[in-house]
Amino acid sequence: MNDGQTLTTADDYAALLARVSALTQGEDDTVALMATVACEVHHADSRFDWTGFYRVTQPGILKIGPYQGGHGCLVIPFDKGVCGACATTGKVQLVADVDAFPGHIACASSTRSELVLPVQGADGQLIAVFDIDSDQPDAFTEQDASQLGKLLAHVFGQADGTPAP
Ligand code: SME
Repeated sequence: MNDGQTLTTADDYAALLARVSALTQGEDDTVALMATVACEVHHADSRFDWTGFYRVTQPGILKIGPYQGGHGCLVIPFDKGVCGACATTGKVQLVADVDAFPGHIACASSTRSELVLPVQGADGQLIAVFDIDSDQPDAFTEQDASQLGKLLAHVFGQADGTPAP
């Protein structure tokens, strides 16, 4: 969260990508990369109240990874919640109203909307999901989804930034 600053244009996202890229250059430790992405994204935009990763630690199980914000639940099975739906389908989940999403897990009762993106490693396997929660209803746009997907592919995907197949 960052008062008064929002990621509204492609240029805003290009600046975020450049910052993350500079900070993570030469780093290949996944937890160090996740911690840096969670911090930089969270503090870039006042809409983001919880920002972090759930890692695939065993088949069908997501476990909490680096995050910013209040307490996040520790374990999410693939068949539960928005994060589980993302992990199961491998598709971005843009939820404008969490109360209308069957099985949404409310780690914080203040959460109104949510964006969850799949994170693939260089070999194309799902390694985590990246979850952003907002206390504002309908906080996220398709641009947020596509630009954040680009950032995740750049950091965790193939070396040239191309999204993994
Ligand atoms: N809301 C998520 C759970 C994670 S937290 O909100 C931090 C979900 O339904 O998957």
